[in-house]
Amino acid sequence: MRILSGIQPSGKLHIGNYFGAMRQNLALQTEHEGFYFIADYHALTSNPDPRDLKQRSLEVAMDYLALGLDPQKTVFWRQSDVPVVTELQWILSCITPMGLLQRCTSYKDKVSQGISSNHGLFAYPVLQAADILIFDSQLVPVGADQKQHIEVTRDIAIKFNNAYGEIFVIPEDHIIESVAVVPGIDGRKMSKSYDNTIEIFEPENSVKKKVMRVVTDSTPVDDPKNPDTCNVFALLRLVAPDSELKEWEEKYRKGGIGYGTVKKRIVELLIEYFRPYRARRQELEKNRDQVEKILLDGAERANAVAQKTMNRVRKAVGLRERL
Ligand code: ADP
Ligand code: TRP
Repeated sequence: MRILSGIQPSGKLHIGNYFGAMRQNLALQTEHEGFYFIADYHALTSNPDPRDLKQRSLEVAMDYLALGLDPQKTVFWRQSDVPVVTELQWILSCITPMGLLQRCTSYKDKVSQGISSNHGLFAYPVLQAADILIFDSQLVPVGADQKQHIEVTRDIAIKFNNAYGEIFVIPEDHIIESVAVVPGIDGRKMSKSYDNTIEIFEPENSVKKKVMRVVTDSTPVDDPKNPDTCNVFALLRLVAPDSELKEWEEKYRKGGIGYGTVKKRIVELLIEYFRPYRARRQELEKNRDQVEKILLDGAERANAVAQKTMNRVRKAVGLRERL
């Protein structure tokens, strides 16, 4: 199956992103034909500083490569290096009913969070549909928040096929099985917008400081504690092997251990978990040219597929073919 995933270059990736989505996404590349890209055109909808956008796109690319994205197997590129996708977006725009976009909750959510409203933000789902359809994607792994955009894509593709013939593959969504929400150091959902994250690749001493600051209740050391409602235990669950987790659970319920002891163990496990990835990340950091080359090679492969689809589309709607 061809599987496509777009990644927003929106800042340093944190362990909530990793355990909530990235790990599952990366696992899928072993059994599917992966097409993964950095969605920098989409990021423009929130008008980032031009230097930040370039830098973040590269950082996210390095994060994914360090964490196991295999560019031999998976086509990996920067969205803006395949600009023909914006041509498809225009063509799709011309058959997309306004009502379909007006119903999209992500636009309303973003505006209510204070992102200034612009046409790109409103048309965001049409560009996403173009991303998906131009590569004949069959499966799109997304978090639950993106499900509506895949439905919009399907609606647009079906409408287009009804009007012009069987041009597009109709994609399916694949809702990523998320772990329970990963809490941030203040106990709310870990999120860059709350400034409560533990970044995957921040220095080890800073990971330690942050884990030690995770908020807990004030149950005394000797008293029993509830693992099901504890932020610290939620973090332990992400990294501890099952057998060890069981032991900690018993200790929690019995009482006699303090949160500090558990936090120290989390620090060890987290650092151990990411150690090989961190080493690879440092290597990539030293070889930015190589990362750039990987993205450009990916863009070449992606362009070849996209051009073919565009020729079908151009012919279907009555524009001149380009090949
Ligand atoms: P943020 O909240 O930091 O802006 P994003 O919304 O960019 O993160 O999240 C990207 C993906 O990472 C989402 O699809 C979501 O499934 C996953 N994710 C983000 N934060 C968490 C979290 N705290 N727990 C579990 N999954 C998360
Ligand atoms: N909108 C997605 C997000 O915010 C990113 C994205 C852009 C995407 N184009 C896509 C995801 C195509 C899947 C398929 O996470």
